[in-house]
Amino acid sequence: MKSLMEIRDLSVEIGARGRKIRWTSILNHINLSLEQGEVLGLVGESGCGKTMTVLALMGLLPPGGRIAGGSIRFMDRDLSGLSPKELAKIRGKHISMIFQEPMTSLDPLMTIGEQIREILARHEGLKGAANKEKCLHLLQTVHIPEPGKIYHCHPFRLSGGMRQRVMIAMALACEPELIIADEPTTALDVTTQAQILDLFNEIRSRTRMSFIFVTHDLGVIAEIADRTSVMYAGYVVEECSVAALFRSPAHPYTYGLMRSRMGRRNSNRDQLYSIPGSVPAPGNMPGGCPFAPRCQLAAARCSREIPPLAEIHAGHRVRCWRQVI
Ligand SMILES: Nc1ncnc2c1ncn2[C@@H]1O[C@H](COP(=O)(O)OP(=O)(O)OP(=O)(O)O)[C@@H](O)[C@H]1O
Ligand SMILES: [Mg+2]
Repeated sequence: MKSLMEIRDLSVEIGARGRKIRWTSILNHINLSLEQGEVLGLVGESGCGKTMTVLALMGLLPPGGRIAGGSIRFMDRDLSGLSPKELAKIRGKHISMIFQEPMTSLDPLMTIGEQIREILARHEGLKGAANKEKCLHLLQTVHIPEPGKIYHCHPFRLSGGMRQRVMIAMALACEPELIIADEPTTALDVTTQAQILDLFNEIRSRTRMSFIFVTHDLGVIAEIADRTSVMYAGYVVEECSVAALFRSPAHPYTYGLMRSRMGRRNSNRDQLYSIPGSVPAPGNMPGGCPFAPRCQLAAARCSREIPPLAEIHAGHRVRCWRQVI
């Protein structure tokens, strides 16, 4: 398969203003790759750096953020060398993004039809009847009932699930090569969440689009992803196929995530499990492996040296001394 995106050794820092700017590492030597048609799941607890990773990829780091090293290749171009204008062009045409809360991306004052038509006009140059036809077709594609009626509605009239369907229609509008979805189902109830995941699966089976799916939920990963990268405290700590993730998770952190998920599904409250402690804040990282203070398997070396992301089987990499010594 053809590689669509390749992030190598990406490091990102955020600067805090003082007399002198103090830089704090947020992402450390991130490696991610994505092939055409593939769905990559990015998973980890809150604050692990999932959103920062996709924002860096899109050239949308928050103010004060900068790429401190590494490269981002997308469609055979190095994105880290592009100007903001060139990046904006790539985002519009080749990469679309869907966020957790659709209301932050939808304009409350414009109807659904107006918003989708604007995208089609800007990116596809579609006008008049052809534009409206494509807009209605997109609403149908994401299974919005009565698209002709929804077309004239303002976003606040729609349920959360319907709004997320509109966001997906907007993301599909310019037929991008890559859709990045950052926790797109987290704010939805379980039934709606399942329906939206079905919709994503349907879209990917019909198109050759690739997806990066950001979530803190391993259940979502199981439903949707081909491969997964587990993030912890600004590092990728494990990377493998979804089958390998569930069959033989190798990093103690991944194992902990798995165990807490099983505990949630089990009705016996005695079996509820959560990983002790919390994710260290950037700028307050322990020496050595960032997970060592929470790790039951930690040995002396773990709090001294950061392990490399080492391949333990073909296509299965893990950043853990206990797996490689
Ligand atoms: N604008 C910002 N300025 C400074 N630090 C930030 C900013 N946004 C995020 N951070 C920090 O960067 C780190 C990574 O945050 P990020 O939002 O990528 O996490 P996440 O994995 O997406 O978490 P969540 O699951 O809560 O969305 C966190 O420690 C966070 O506090
Ligand atoms: Mg996030």
